[in-house]
Amino acid sequence: MAVSRGAFSSRIGFIMAAAGSAVGLGNIWGFPTQTASNGGAAFVLVYLILAFCLAYPAFMAEILIGRYGQANAVTSLQKMSRTLWQKRFGFVVGFGGIICAALILSFYGILAGWMMSFAVEPLALMLGANQAADWVVNQSLERNLLFTVLFMFLTIFIIRKGVENGIEKWSKRLMPMMIGLLVLLIIYVFTLDGASEGVEAYLNPDISRVLDPNLLVSALGQAFFSLSLGTSVMVIYGSYISKKENMVSIGAQVTLIDVSIAFLAGLLIIPAMYVAQAQGVAIFAADGSLNSGPTLVFDVLPSLFDGMGGIGLFIGFAFFLLMTIAALTSSISMLEGPVSYAVERHDIERKKATTMIGLAILALSVVIVANIDFMLDLVATISTQYGQPIIAMLCCVFAGWIWYRNELLAEIKQGNEAVESSLFWKIWPWYIKFVCPVAIATVFIHSIL
Ligand code: PHE
Repeated sequence: MAVSRGAFSSRIGFIMAAAGSAVGLGNIWGFPTQTASNGGAAFVLVYLILAFCLAYPAFMAEILIGRYGQANAVTSLQKMSRTLWQKRFGFVVGFGGIICAALILSFYGILAGWMMSFAVEPLALMLGANQAADWVVNQSLERNLLFTVLFMFLTIFIIRKGVENGIEKWSKRLMPMMIGLLVLLIIYVFTLDGASEGVEAYLNPDISRVLDPNLLVSALGQAFFSLSLGTSVMVIYGSYISKKENMVSIGAQVTLIDVSIAFLAGLLIIPAMYVAQAQGVAIFAADGSLNSGPTLVFDVLPSLFDGMGGIGLFIGFAFFLLMTIAALTSSISMLEGPVSYAVERHDIERKKATTMIGLAILALSVVIVANIDFMLDLVATISTQYGQPIIAMLCCVFAGWIWYRNELLAEIKQGNEAVESSLFWKIWPWYIKFVCPVAIATVFIHSIL
């Protein structure tokens, strides 16, 4: 364990990296799709409440555990354990999170590959390569393999470079680019016919749906996925932050960026759906349900871009490039979880560990691609519907019940002397002990029944 650790060189470096992990396909694809399938604004409202009241406190637990431990998830959790049983429990929770990150990456890489292939299509059309353009947007084993491999190589390339020169540098480059593209696209879509109807559906909640249990379960799952909880990722990112930083405000900033970008993505996609409808694309079935559900971004949006003529090629390219970038800043964080563990616990050199683990996860992706009909959903369900809530809940249990209270308070105070007079100081320690585990468990049990 004599390996020297990386660290983020600045506060903004951490914020970009953690927000980069948080903001991904979950925000730009998952959130708008869930919103459209769950009655529009009612879902947005519930999501916002759950993100701040449950996901943010759980997120704070994970980054604080990491900063306290200054190590990968397993070592960090074991540092706060006293007894042999607590240490074993720490291993199960930390390692469980690492496995969860690897499983998510194995299917996430495939979805990100689709985004890349849809970004290539307009480029191929611009070059007159119509056949190639057709090939990249049609489901096939070869297409899926090619783009999954490409995307995973990009992820491995960045993580091989380490924390400062890989994760931080690339997140700082890619995140502003992604936000810029998103804002430009929103402005453009707002100028089109039908957009205002979409804005109305997005912002005007049907209050009667707010307490629908299924909507609650979907919104909480979405919030946990979006903040990358229960995957060891935020523990390891937290471990790279300096002890001088004020964690309470940094954590709040990351949550705010994550939620705002999901909100902005909805402001792009929901109006875009209505624009497409105004142009004759069928979006809703007769019973009011969404026609294409999860494939919304691959069906509705491309037909919208097609209908725009020449400019549609640029807009389509910009949109899928945006998706690819968002996915990349998330996938690197998923790979960092297992890599940091191998480097710190087994003394494997970083580049070697990254390549080995990256290729192993890629091998799993290839198996999924070859059996896409049943495995894609299966792996996604195991990791996101079971793995994430369970591990995230256990991290709260660790912070609330196993971590010595005076040490926990001392960690919150590091870099934030004035915290004692804040609401966070008064509420969070008991909130994480009682409210978070019980609420997460309740929603989880409901979701599996
Ligand atoms: N938060 C990412 C997204 O919204 C996904 C992710 C999950 C990243 C788990 C890291 C770990 O797309």
